[in-house]
Amino acid sequence: MNGIHPRRFEFSLSGPIALTLLFCVAAVAQGAASSEVARGEYLVRAGDCAFCHTDNNGKAFAGGRAIPTPFGVIYSINITPDRETGIGEWTEQDFYKAMHTGISSDGSHLYPAFPYPWFTKVTRVDVDAIKAYLDTVTPVVQKDKTNQLPWYLSWRGELFGWNALFFDEGEYKVDTARSAEWNRGAYLVEGLAHCGACHTPDNSLGGAKHSEPYEGGDAGLHWAAPGLGGNLRDGVGGWSPEEIAEYLKTGANAKSASAGPMSDVVTNSTQYLSDADLKAIALYLKDRPNAAAKSAPETHALGTDALARGQALYIDNCTGCHMPDGRGVVDVFPPLAGSAAIQADNPGTVIHVVLEGARMAAPSSKPTGLAMPGFGWKLDDREIADVVNYSRHAWGNLAPSVDADAVAAVRKIIQPTDRPSRDATTTHPDAPLAHR
Ligand code: HEC
Ligand code: HEC
Ligand code: HEC
Repeated sequence: MNGIHPRRFEFSLSGPIALTLLFCVAAVAQGAASSEVARGEYLVRAGDCAFCHTDNNGKAFAGGRAIPTPFGVIYSINITPDRETGIGEWTEQDFYKAMHTGISSDGSHLYPAFPYPWFTKVTRVDVDAIKAYLDTVTPVVQKDKTNQLPWYLSWRGELFGWNALFFDEGEYKVDTARSAEWNRGAYLVEGLAHCGACHTPDNSLGGAKHSEPYEGGDAGLHWAAPGLGGNLRDGVGGWSPEEIAEYLKTGANAKSASAGPMSDVVTNSTQYLSDADLKAIALYLKDRPNAAAKSAPETHALGTDALARGQALYIDNCTGCHMPDGRGVVDVFPPLAGSAAIQADNPGTVIHVVLEGARMAAPSSKPTGLAMPGFGWKLDDREIADVVNYSRHAWGNLAPSVDADAVAAVRKIIQPTDRPSRDATTTHPDAPLAHR
């Protein structure tokens, strides 16, 4: 051990006192180390690292999860401390470089499916804490999978050009005109929690459109992440900061219930955030300088025939839970009137939910995630478009119309089974209160 040498104490202190002092110094150092690890664990949750870096039923942090991108499938990498197949040989500097610049220890560029365009905002102290925690997880021997990308994208050197166009390297800069709480919220949303990775629209090359922050984006596989701005229709303009915090903590509030990728985010990440951090996030979202309401959508008048068809389907299939007035049942069935999932310009989420059903997040604070049955086995693409269009135009809702092709595109990905099997009857309308 370098550092404090026992001899130094011998001049002025007797043996036992010197020893006690030494133990104290060691204990303080160890305490600091373990508090850094605990802080790192919290930050790893805030960054949702475990979800992306663990395959379904795979070993924690060993990688191999398929991350869908518009260009093909990219697999996450083993970030356990295994020395051969993981990052056990990495120095703190290697790790910081990957998080801060998207460049791996061997100098190769990482794909932005790894959210380094957001993680670059994380401070050095926090990145070191994340590394300190990852050093303590069980090392797993697991080789990385080969990505499924078209040939012209499999050369990582191209990412140099991508970074030049779309990547702004740099840690978060405190806005001194704002409160500490506002800055904390901004630091998390813009950085580690990478909310914009899904909620900010992408350009055709997969770079975030920073000119339209949080105006609603694509979370992959046609899941639409609604806007997080001040819009009432497709945003959180009508939500109080407390309602935003409640949604992130539990996956639901009086206005909405999470589904799909957002249920994963709540289950693996935001439910673990402290109340203070959730409040800071909510404050920031409500108070961004550019959180102005988006203009009204381009809507197409829906013919009375289509409206009547959709209404009949709604009465047959949906009223039992979401009620004829679309207001749902508080704490049980989310309202569809005023819902962003229903009214988002991109109809991906509502189509997904109606086709395959949905399950709320099941955080420890509200362990029974309620489920909605899917209708893909029962209704064809035209009928699903009709009922979705009705929901997008009834009760004061407003959104562009959807055609059967949009439904077919989502159905192609999820391929629901023909009819629910007997085992699946728990998610059938007759037994709505299905548990996870
Ligand atoms: C949205 C999914 C996603 C999230 C969230 C995510 N990662 Fe990753 N990560 C990836 C993918 C995909 C790759 C591989 C990219 C590639 O092959 O170019 C990767 C690569 C990495 C690498 C590079 C490893 C190497 O050998 O080069 C590190 C380090 C890493 N992630 C750490 C983290 C940490 C720490 C967090 C949480 C703060 C995190 N990741 C969150 C998807 C994710
Ligand atoms: C992996 C993609 C992804 C990430 C990352 C993500 N979200 Fe979401 N989010 C979604 C999707 C998809 C929905 C729509 C789900 C639904 O309506 O059921 C959603 C819905 C929401 C809603 C509900 C909006 C409404 O009006 O109904 C809020 C609020 C929200 N997200 C906040 C956040 C915040 C804050 C973060 C960062 C801490 C975040 N999300 C990170 C994908 C994501
Ligand atoms: C058996 C009760 C039940 C029936 C029937 C039902 N739903 Fe749902 N629905 C739910 C529950 C529970 C949720 C919350 C699950 C979730 O969002 O993960 C939900 C969620 C939704 C959402 C997402 C809301 C949000 O805030 O993100 C939409 C959209 C939706 N339902 C539309 C419909 C439509 C359209 C029909 C008829 C075709 C229908 N539902 C039939 C129970 C039901």
